[in-house]
Amino acid sequence: MTEPSHLAAVRDSYDAVAADYVRLIIPPEEMDPVSRAMLAAFAELVRDGGGPVADLGCGPGRVTAYLAGLGLAAFGVDVSGEMVALARRAYPELRFVQGSMAALDLADGTLGGVLAWYSVHHTPPASLPAVFAEFRRVLAPGGHLLLGGHAGDAHLRPAEAYGHPVSFESHLLPAGRLADLLAQAGFTVTARLEQPRPERADRSYVCLLAYA
Ligand SMILES: C[S@@+](CC[C@H](N)C(=O)[O-])C[C@H]1O[C@@H](n2cnc3c(N)ncnc32)[C@H](O)[C@@H]1O
Repeated sequence: MTEPSHLAAVRDSYDAVAADYVRLIIPPEEMDPVSRAMLAAFAELVRDGGGPVADLGCGPGRVTAYLAGLGLAAFGVDVSGEMVALARRAYPELRFVQGSMAALDLADGTLGGVLAWYSVHHTPPASLPAVFAEFRRVLAPGGHLLLGGHAGDAHLRPAEAYGHPVSFESHLLPAGRLADLLAQAGFTVTARLEQPRPERADRSYVCLLAYA
């Protein structure tokens, strides 16, 4: 299968920024309390149902490790080989795989949870239905999804990020549109939380909890 061009741009860009991403982005332990509460709620729900948890677009693996610390059998998947290498080095006890969240090397219905944390905004909106269908395919019935990230209404083509030239694009969608797309993929959305960002008028933080 031919790789979509946006995926090559994401991989190349995150390969280039990986080391500085870790230096510049705060770890989960220092995130705002509301985001941590959503991760804790997700962990509690998944622990009740059991099953492994995939952190899709795991980057350097810090959130994967945070979930493992909350008692989940978490592993990470990322398209960037550099990110996966950093994650493996930092957390040798956890499993990290290079791959695309749109085509997971996992059998149907095998996961108790899927986390996509600040990772779906690089997927063009037209491709999101297929990505969310893939999330649902790999979740066991009743398995939980936590989608966290940026919400807004913008298509951004930044020239640089984390101090490096990048070629990825970011697609910010309203929280309601993300929730609708999850519902269209067969998810039941159980919580939707938006936090305005006074310092960035064009976006808010959004968390959507859903089950398959
Ligand atoms: C902003 S970083 C977030 C990383 C991590 N979730 C965190 O919060 O630290 C976005 C990550 O998603 C990955 N990514 C984006 N689209 C992806 C896709 N379609 N498949 C796999 N990984 C993807 C990127 O390579 C990058 O590492």
